[in-house]
Amino acid sequence: MSRLRSFLFIPGDSEKKLGKVDESGADAVVLDLEDAVAPANKALARQMVTDFLKARPRAGRTVQLWVRVNPFDTGMTEDDVAAIMVGAPDGIMQPKIDGPDCVAKLSALLDHYEEGQGVPAGSTRILPVSTETPIAPFRLGDFATAGLTRLAGLTWGAEDLSAAMGASTNVGADGKWAFTYQLVRSLTLMAAHAAGVPAYETLYVDFRDDEGLRASCRAARAEGFSGRIAIHPAQVSGINDSFSPSEEEVAFARRVIEAFDAEPNAGTVGIDGKMYDIPHLKAARRTLKAAGA
Ligand code: COA
Ligand code: MG
Repeated sequence: MSRLRSFLFIPGDSEKKLGKVDESGADAVVLDLEDAVAPANKALARQMVTDFLKARPRAGRTVQLWVRVNPFDTGMTEDDVAAIMVGAPDGIMQPKIDGPDCVAKLSALLDHYEEGQGVPAGSTRILPVSTETPIAPFRLGDFATAGLTRLAGLTWGAEDLSAAMGASTNVGADGKWAFTYQLVRSLTLMAAHAAGVPAYETLYVDFRDDEGLRASCRAARAEGFSGRIAIHPAQVSGINDSFSPSEEEVAFARRVIEAFDAEPNAGTVGIDGKMYDIPHLKAARRTLKAAGA
């Protein structure tokens, strides 16, 4: 699968914004049927998203086309899935899950509609937003053993969780995430790595602050996140740049790998007077993979 750094949200009922997909530069767009669409426009958005997908068959896509469906407790999920599968989306973003069992339930629906629509079995991926209900963070560790073959990664969100708890804020006096949200962010990061899938950072709300976005993305990447959600086209390049290894990082990763290749039985090697061991070798491989090399 091509690398995914940026997921750009597009309200599914906005013809104008849908028209920006091809020029967006995003690795994936998420055509939204959930909270960016007012209840009165749900049916319209479903139709618009389906038409949009059908007009861009999978084989010719240069940007992955994902859809955020409505959560199961709305009763709309199956109608969403039934409609959009005709257009073979690359993946589904699943909001407000309670745990891996919710993802398994969506996966079973996809099994059914992939077969009905002639979409290759198992090819539609799922990215759950796994911290939006109060129970969800407690089940994050279960993704590691849930055997969800469609799982494309894990991402997290703060707004719905704070709303679900009646909280009046999710940030502290310093403007950073309050402890609860830092906690679920870290749990998402660890759960994703435990499950062997990428972790994706939540959105950066201030879409005119490119400096701040880039600094926040660099910090996230340094912690082990692979990419990020975007809410505005202006955020895409900052995200793509920040989650791509620099030329220096790639060059150094190659040196580490070459040093280990030169001494196949060594657990440690020296480069420029510094010691490097197996974790460094693994990190170097990850860097090359992230660079698409
Ligand atoms: N996707 C595609 N195009 C977008 C876009 C998006 N997410 N956000 C803005 N644009 C377009 C606008 O249509 C506008 O086009 P124009 O120059 O042809 O008029 C241009 O980019 C500049 O937009 P701007 O005026 O800066 O922003 P806005 O006030 O129109 O929109 C938001 C601001 C937040 C409403 C908009 O960015 C948006 O809808 N984001 C996605 C929200 C979403 O889906 N949320 C759910 C997940 S959290
Ligand atoms: Mg939400």
